[in-house]
Amino acid sequence: MSRPLALLVVVLVSVCGHWRLAAADVGDFTPCLQFFYRSWPPKGLIGTPICQRYDNQYRFATLYSRARRSPWFSAYVYTVPQGKRPSTFWKFEPQLAYPGAAGNMIRFPPGPLDQNVVDSQAVEPDYINSTYSRGHMNPSLHHRTHEDRTATFTLTNVVPQKAGSNDGPWEKLEQTVNKSLAAFCLGQAYVVTGAIPYQSEEHWLKNHRVAVPEYMWSAYCCPKYNSSLPEELRNTFPTYAAIGRNDCNSSEEIVPVSKTAKKEFRGYDVRRMSLETLEMYLRDRLSAVVSVFYERCSGSH
Ligand SMILES: *[C@@H]1O[C@H](CO)[C@@H](O)[C@H](O)[C@H]1NC(C)=O
Ligand SMILES: *[C@@H]1O[C@H](CO)[C@@H](O)[C@H](O)[C@H]1NC(C)=O
Ligand SMILES: *[C@@H]1O[C@H](CO)[C@@H](O)[C@H](O)[C@H]1NC(C)=O
Ligand SMILES: *[C@@H]1O[C@H](CO)[C@@H](O)[C@H](O)[C@H]1NC(C)=O
Repeated sequence: MSRPLALLVVVLVSVCGHWRLAAADVGDFTPCLQFFYRSWPPKGLIGTPICQRYDNQYRFATLYSRARRSPWFSAYVYTVPQGKRPSTFWKFEPQLAYPGAAGNMIRFPPGPLDQNVVDSQAVEPDYINSTYSRGHMNPSLHHRTHEDRTATFTLTNVVPQKAGSNDGPWEKLEQTVNKSLAAFCLGQAYVVTGAIPYQSEEHWLKNHRVAVPEYMWSAYCCPKYNSSLPEELRNTFPTYAAIGRNDCNSSEEIVPVSKTAKKEFRGYDVRRMSLETLEMYLRDRLSAVVSVFYERCSGSH
């Protein structure tokens, strides 16, 4: 190959490569590996990767299940929050419906919904009049900027969650994680939050539209932390995890029920646990070896 031709090929490959990365929001985590510890997405779960883009910037990453029309997990980097939860519109992911669409998540337009959108993902009527709230995997609370917070309001980041969990023990967990990471994490904190399906007799919104998880789980990895931890936070760094009930009628094998909880939150307990214990339950329930963080987040020490 002549020199100028070789140069042309290099230029074309890099131009196309760049274009491909910029366009591939759905189907590939490559453009948003910064949201995973050591650029290493969790292993063991199969789904459709979404690099969640809002206002032309990547904000977090989601592994989406098209069959369940809900996420397996969302992964993000925690930042100390400022300001209030935005009041915002719900959005969807156009590339799930049209692979060639632009990559930004967009607000549901008024009027009748596009059938390709309805077929490819959850839409607002799925949640309206159901007995479930919209449970964020990546919560608005864990972000500093208004844009990062607004970006969490997309239905591909949401599972059907009972209000008893969402407004009770699960919200408490998000607040506790917020406080400990803000106080003791000295570098980046990587968080992954996901769903555990029912083992049999799946629950759905609206006649097999959106699968309801039986449990939600969450784990963080903060490799660089202040080691002068107070007693109650001794075992919560560099990693920590939890599983929360999303069905007050589930058995108590994974998460026991506190009999003294307020009535509206009873049966929606969250159990704190080590990352190892969480991965054991994920392996058991998903019949796959699930690794949430590279070398269980211990790689840096
Ligand atoms: C919700 O329920 C109300 C009252 O029954 C009904 O008018 C409305 O159409 C329902 N909306 C959806 C999206 O199902
Ligand atoms: C989150 O943590 C920050 C820093 O400690 C604190 O100022 C804020 O009140 C916390 N927010 C909630 C809702 O707990
Ligand atoms: C670590 O925490 C201790 C008390 O909990 C505090 O006095 C100290 O300033 C912290 N160090 C850093 C580097 O944040
Ligand atoms: C739990 O069981 C009770 C009694 O069978 C039922 O009324 C209720 O709807 C169930 N709750 C959920 C969240 O499935």
